[in-house]
Amino acid sequence: MGRILITGGAGFIGSHISLALLKKGYKIIILDSLVNSSFESIKRIKSENEGIFSNYSNNFEFIRGDLRNATLVNELFKDSSLTKSKQITSVIHCAGLKSIPESIKNPIQYWENNVIGSINLFNAMKVFECRTIVFSSSATIYGINEGSLLNEESFINPCNPYGTTKLVIEKLLHDIYINNNDDWRIANLRYFNPIGAHESGIIGEDPIGNANNIFPILTKVAIGKIPKLMIFGDDWPTKDGTGVRDYIHIMDLADGHVNVLEYLQKNFPQQINLNLGTGKGTSVLELIKKFQNINKVDIPYEFTGRRKGDYGFVVADNSLARNLLNWTPKRNIGDMCKDGWEWQRRNPNGYK
Ligand SMILES: NC(=O)c1ccc[n+]([C@@H]2O[C@H](COP(=O)([O-])OP(=O)(O)OC[C@H]3O[C@@H](n4cnc5c(N)ncnc54)[C@H](O)[C@@H]3O)[C@@H](O)[C@H]2O)c1
Repeated sequence: MGRILITGGAGFIGSHISLALLKKGYKIIILDSLVNSSFESIKRIKSENEGIFSNYSNNFEFIRGDLRNATLVNELFKDSSLTKSKQITSVIHCAGLKSIPESIKNPIQYWENNVIGSINLFNAMKVFECRTIVFSSSATIYGINEGSLLNEESFINPCNPYGTTKLVIEKLLHDIYINNNDDWRIANLRYFNPIGAHESGIIGEDPIGNANNIFPILTKVAIGKIPKLMIFGDDWPTKDGTGVRDYIHIMDLADGHVNVLEYLQKNFPQQINLNLGTGKGTSVLELIKKFQNINKVDIPYEFTGRRKGDYGFVVADNSLARNLLNWTPKRNIGDMCKDGWEWQRRNPNGYK
């Protein structure tokens, strides 16, 4: 059956995908530089720690390494190709830097890491005849679309270097596909706002340094590590003036990856773009209220001005993913708040 390579598998999304795949009996290999994650998440996926998950050691390998190192990436594919059961038959490409403000400050770092890393990966896939890839793209590639749902045909116009790197990688994959369209199976998954944690509270989101997205900040306010949550803008054209986002439970997102891999394997070579979101919008104030009510904790917050490059309303039309993948997000915003809090409560210092 071979193995699935998960780049960035120690990170927030990759760790949850890894667990979902292991649970379904897949063999995986994770490549991660740990630039924004820690080895502890690897130990927990493998279940060396708390014994809550089954022990997956036999189906699991971890390589610490950077995708920018082309020699390392080639060696990894080469070594894997020597034994049939270890061959890399598909890739889930999560590795990348993901902070919008950081990318505005240092665009070259983002292009170098995200784009050069991807080129090395696709090159090794070409050489070692691995032709199935699921790419972690982002709703950030869409342009402004206030008030209406975004579908895969919506206007594309990323407004920051991070989003541009995602679009460029999608375009590169398109060129690769066009060049050899009877061979490649490619899915660009455009994530909306994955939040929460695995129901067990054993793995979750723990970025290195300061988080830039709302949910890990919210849980850190709840646990008392950050004094208050800053809300960027109270004058958006939305129901309560705060930004509306499409939050999706991380395990629903992870399940979507299992479904898309199985879809690609069963179907003819193709390239598809799919939105992974719930199709439901939640405002910042609604998210805070839900988190407080479900978890019985207080979230102090304060309004500040809008952030440059932010939008008021970013919600998915997810009908294509639902229809094609036979996938439905099962967990609601209350589950996301409950599971995210369980992770933070059990791990006040994250993985440290
Ligand atoms: N979290 C979100 O809200 C969101 C939304 C849309 C898209 N995405 C994309 O999904 C992917 C995963 O996001 P995440 O939230 O899990 O982020 P994350 O930072 O938690 O995980 C990314 C992982 O990639 C690793 N990495 C980065 N550059 C690398 C390199 N050159 N070589 C090897 N490993 C490298 C990091 O160490 C980290 O473990 C990213 O590509 C991100 O852009 C995330």
